[in-house]
Amino acid sequence: MKDPTTRPEPRLRRLRRTATTRSLTAETRVHPDQLVDPHFVVHGEGVEEPVPGMPAADHVSPDVLVDRVREGLEVGLDTVLVFGAPDTEDPEGRAAADPDGPVPEALRRLEDTFGDQVLAIADVCLCAYTTHGHCGVLDKEGRVDNDASLPRLADAAVAYADAGADWVAPSDMMDGRVRAIRRALDRNGHPDTAILSYAAKFHSAFYGPFRHAQGSAPEGGDRATYQIDPPNAREALRCVERDVDEGADAVVVKPGLAYLDVLHRVSDTVDVPVAAYHVSGEHAMLQAAAEKGAVDEARATREVLTALDRAGADLLITYLGRKALKGGWL
Ligand code: PBG
Repeated sequence: MKDPTTRPEPRLRRLRRTATTRSLTAETRVHPDQLVDPHFVVHGEGVEEPVPGMPAADHVSPDVLVDRVREGLEVGLDTVLVFGAPDTEDPEGRAAADPDGPVPEALRRLEDTFGDQVLAIADVCLCAYTTHGHCGVLDKEGRVDNDASLPRLADAAVAYADAGADWVAPSDMMDGRVRAIRRALDRNGHPDTAILSYAAKFHSAFYGPFRHAQGSAPEGGDRATYQIDPPNAREALRCVERDVDEGADAVVVKPGLAYLDVLHRVSDTVDVPVAAYHVSGEHAMLQAAAEKGAVDEARATREVLTALDRAGADLLITYLGRKALKGGWL
């Protein structure tokens, strides 16, 4: 007989006994409302082309985007993130602010078709629109010129807000762009357009497939002078606090899965909504493993999204959402 004064043994398996107990006691639940669905838009009509090396996203023209978003709504995806894959580029990336570019065109169609039923977020960056592929404009020495890039980014943000973007999401990593964009939006009659800042964006190897999709790989050098160096979590916190101070309404940690510690610290530190971006390379890895039969796709997808949620993400930007919801995987 055991000594009755000793505390009962913690039998933690009790609450794991059945599926019902487990779901009753789950600490984290991924909900469709958290998901943000990325899309890549190109000019034209009826365009629907797979992007080599980018398993989850196609190039679509604005009309096809509307159909895709309608399909997404049927499974509960009501927030979309729109990237442009334009056919014009110039050294300063002025095409990013062209009201006739694929992104403004797509945003107008979404607004006309769905109104407030769909929340449209427009990515703001110059890399797809510059001839050299950097996220800002270059100075005479060929270095990315922070301050000269700010008006270009602000112009793009205003063009997207004019076209109906509900939120704009600067992903360029120039210093001071949140303030510049906030001022420009306010001055141009868009005080209600929110800024989702990619504040903690790392210089990651996991953006590879995306760069094919957007045609945005830099031609010379890399993005190490503006994106955060992977070892630096404290620096990421500084970026996040600075961006909130400048007027960011919500912030992104990117990539997500490789930076769960940063995600956790950011969500503990700031009081704005935090998004985690499960990026293209992370997605491609999971997809390749599933194709090889190394992992079960449904379970792995659920586990990844749960991990991001558990680490503190409010929003989940992911290429997995559509398949996960259609398959009832969550
Ligand atoms: C562009 C941008 C990138 C991503 C989102 N916006 C690529 C980059 O910075 O090189 C990556 C998204 C993904 O990999 O899924 N500034």
